[in-house]
Amino acid sequence: MTVAELPLPEGYRLVALERVGSTNDEAKTLARGGAAAGTLVWAKEQTAGRGRRGRLWLSPPGNLYLSLIVRPGGAPAEAAQLGFVAALGLGEALLEVAGPALPLAYKWPNDVLVGSRKLAGILLESETGGRGAVDFVIIGIGVNLASKPENVEFPATSLALEGFADIAPVVLLRAFVQHFDVWAARWRQDGFAPVRSAWLGRAGGLGDDIRVRLGRATLCGRFLDLDADGALVLDAAGARRRIAAGDVFPPLG
Ligand code: BTN
Repeated sequence: MTVAELPLPEGYRLVALERVGSTNDEAKTLARGGAAAGTLVWAKEQTAGRGRRGRLWLSPPGNLYLSLIVRPGGAPAEAAQLGFVAALGLGEALLEVAGPALPLAYKWPNDVLVGSRKLAGILLESETGGRGAVDFVIIGIGVNLASKPENVEFPATSLALEGFADIAPVVLLRAFVQHFDVWAARWRQDGFAPVRSAWLGRAGGLGDDIRVRLGRATLCGRFLDLDADGALVLDAAGARRRIAAGDVFPPLG
């Protein structure tokens, strides 16, 4: 499938680039200039790819790097739920291209794992307009198709390492947009509840002991639930803690 042949649902427009610093930055510039929701920036390679919390996202050719402009309106806390909507769209796209036996799991807040290794990450960036309503959200997605980073804190994998060597970025891109579009419509219509329950159906580590890093502090406890807003609910030595932002790791030892 070539880019020109790419069938996208109505309302999506592809901006395809050979090489860019960061597709999120490119999408942000377009959104600030008034680009419509559904604008999708895809690059074969990034020279300054960014992960969550300012981390570097190594972006050699062969993997998928895309950023989608969404204009959901509403409050920033609600717009943050789009990370879960995107994870579901990406998860279903991966199951479509690699087959239903792929042992896919969602890792809070927005990662996609195969087994217990990270295959894909999602970086949500938003800007608000007047009265604090969200002007736009950029959903940035990176998927390790051909290669994975070495020496990363959380172990990574690629679809090639999992036995799927020939999946072209454009094939996964098309599948993602189709599944995301369905989930985004469901979210707009029915709210976060169906998203939450589909995400929990494949949540990695649910019921297990985990470590959650919050800036400098780390909390240990049992991963109990995802609450109605998308926060992680942890049982930390008998105290129920609600965590809105952090990084999850397996327990030490
Ligand atoms: C993470 O897990 O830390 C999120 C990684 C997000 C990486 C993607 S690649 C496409 C888009 N452009 C970027 O600079 N980052 C996101």
